[in-house]
Amino acid sequence: MLELSKGNQNLMIRRARTEDAVELNEFYKNIMLETDHFGYEVDEFHITDEQQAHTINMFNQADNAILLVATLNDKIVGNLSFRAGSSKKIQHVGEFGIQVLKNYWNLGIGKELVKCLINWAKENEKVYKISLRVRADNQNAIHLYKTLGFMEEGILKGEMMCNGVLYDLIYMGIVVD
Ligand SMILES: CC(C)(COP(=O)(O)OP(=O)(O)OC[C@H]1O[C@@H](n2cnc3c(N)ncnc32)[C@H](O)[C@@H]1OP(=O)(O)O)[C@@H](O)C(=O)NCCC(=O)NCCS
Repeated sequence: MLELSKGNQNLMIRRARTEDAVELNEFYKNIMLETDHFGYEVDEFHITDEQQAHTINMFNQADNAILLVATLNDKIVGNLSFRAGSSKKIQHVGEFGIQVLKNYWNLGIGKELVKCLINWAKENEKVYKISLRVRADNQNAIHLYKTLGFMEEGILKGEMMCNGVLYDLIYMGIVVD
């Protein structure tokens, strides 16, 4: 979908393929060890490679969902998944999650992933709005989303608990029509 050079490395953003399943599972496990800003903890992650391949297939068949990977020299370093609703009343709006391996933060990979999502959504006939929930102390993520035009829509009090501590989430959204 997109290819550009960063130094001597090739960054590519593309849809995930079923053959990415094994590497994607490893990627998620690393992310869970590196950051609290992910919905699962590592001891809760029991998705087999076959299930991951099935999930990738489902994303690729849906007309209002997309699963992207960012690769640097063919290694998966980032991921974004967006899924809109399945019923008629909510099939135009969905939320996304995004992760980049810590060694590759602040290189613009997250921004390229979200830009790719926005461009895809603009072309998509069903999707009208992209939303997300972000922990209120996740400053780099909030900065990234605001830079790309996402607006704060509300605060969800105590919606996430990490190591026994409650955190507020900020609900953000952008209309792409
Ligand atoms: C959030 C995340 C995806 C961003 O990925 P990334 O590749 O580092 O993002 P980018 O490099 O495109 O952009 C990061 C921006 O944050 C800025 N930034 C870094 N630290 C910051 C801080 N403490 N406060 C404010 N902005 C900060 C960077 O300068 C950059 O902005 P710029 O492009 O205007 O210079 C990545 O940090 C990540 O995977 N975090 C763990 C999982 C997560 O938090 N996911 C989001 C859950 S909602």
